[in-house]
Amino acid sequence: MRRPIIAGNWKMNKNVKETVGFLEELIPMVAGVDDADIVVAPPFTALSDAKRVLSGSNINVAAQNMHALEKGAYTGCISATMVKELCDYVILGHSERREFFCETNEMINRKVKSAVEHGITPILCIGEWKADRDSGRTHEVLHAQVSQCLQDVPVEEVRNIILAYEPVWAISRGDPNVKPATPDVAQEAHGFIRGILSDLYDDETSQAVRILYGGSMKPENVNELMKQPDIDGGLVGGASLKLGFADIVKFNR
Ligand code: PGA
Repeated sequence: MRRPIIAGNWKMNKNVKETVGFLEELIPMVAGVDDADIVVAPPFTALSDAKRVLSGSNINVAAQNMHALEKGAYTGCISATMVKELCDYVILGHSERREFFCETNEMINRKVKSAVEHGITPILCIGEWKADRDSGRTHEVLHAQVSQCLQDVPVEEVRNIILAYEPVWAISRGDPNVKPATPDVAQEAHGFIRGILSDLYDDETSQAVRILYGGSMKPENVNELMKQPDIDGGLVGGASLKLGFADIVKFNR
């Protein structure tokens, strides 16, 4: 059985004070949960305070991005060694990084390898754009993303990587009216992704990898999504900024 993970991707939201206040309220709300991993990804500026407040709790911190190189003249970037000081997880390849910061599968692959070498668990985001789905290219896009982003990652490391299937058309970007993928559509994609892992590696690896769903996951829809056999958790954006995140963490087991 794969252990579920519910991860909150805060994006560019919450300053230090807001982060500390929010987490102090969240900690007791999820304190009894011991059958799922709980992760929050505040902005870089709040990671240190988040880590301090969360010490001794069952909530882990993640960074939202990092550079592939160790150090150097890369204004505005942080490296895996810097992430590792505070986080066990890093979100990589989010569609907003791909779209607004021109990240390619090849760049994301270098980041994945750096994270793995530094003992940080990547939460690797993949997912098709609306135009891809409308033109029947979803499988082709997912295959390219998985195979290229994981290229040359040793199989024993692949098992520990977390994938997040986030169909870009279902990501809320702050709009509560955006609809998530239906459980059937999400399950079909998750099953397909697991099949890619089987083809690239082996069945055991494909069964071990946890695949999260992301895109308008909320307390109202988490249970139906989590019932699907290949959905192992959620990468939650907008709904992770509110204390209702605790209800997502406590989805029906
Ligand atoms: P959303 O974002 O839950 O607000 O749709 C998910 C994500 O972008 O990771």
